[in-house]
Amino acid sequence: MTIYSHIVACTVNGTIGKEGTMPWHIPDDLKFFREKTLGKIIIIGSTTFKSLPKKALEGRYYIVVSSSKSNISKEDNLFYADSIATAIEHADKISDNWGGEVFIAGGQSIYEQTFHLVTHIYLTLIPTVLDGDKIYPIYLLPKKHREKNRASKRIKNNLVDYLYFIHYTKTF
Ligand SMILES: NC(=O)c1ccc[n+]([C@@H]2O[C@H](COP(=O)([O-])OP(=O)(O)OC[C@H]3O[C@@H](n4cnc5c(N)ncnc54)[C@H](OP(=O)(O)O)[C@@H]3O)[C@@H](O)[C@H]2O)c1
Repeated sequence: MTIYSHIVACTVNGTIGKEGTMPWHIPDDLKFFREKTLGKIIIIGSTTFKSLPKKALEGRYYIVVSSSKSNISKEDNLFYADSIATAIEHADKISDNWGGEVFIAGGQSIYEQTFHLVTHIYLTLIPTVLDGDKIYPIYLLPKKHREKNRASKRIKNNLVDYLYFIHYTKTF
């Protein structure tokens, strides 16, 4: 069975983005993202995908959700899905070759539509308040999810001195 997880970084007031990008640069969180998603499938919204400086990271399979019919991929490991349902159907089909786990990596619109699917949430909490125009809508988290563990890490960054890596899982 395919496991679906959210992976997200947000501030204490829930900010995940501003003006189409992330209002911070935190290499320790990018490292966490790279390690976690290596060899796995990533489902991502077209706005977020377009905002990535290096587009797709190697060693992952990207499913980009977009309603635009002109999006047809000729690249390896990149598939455009015209709905969340198509993205899930495609992920289920190939997940055995990609570690059996799918990371849903935002943005806000994609998180909003997939809370019901996820067994795990990997949330990097950036302990500060920042203005933004996109949030992680944690209020949509179904009641069955519980915090499983929380690790803090001291970092060198001009925004914060530490991060919390929080792991939520669904209880059955
Ligand atoms: N901090 C974090 O962890 C994190 C993670 C990810 C993103 N972000 C930030 O979040 C922001 C982007 O979030 P967003 O909500 O604006 O955009 P998004 O979720 O990345 O992408 C939205 C787009 O996805 C497509 N889409 C969404 N639902 C769809 C559906 N049901 N069927 C077909 N297509 C669908 C549409 O693309 P088309 O217009 O092509 O149809 C829509 O315009 C950025 O600021 C980004 O930096 C932050």
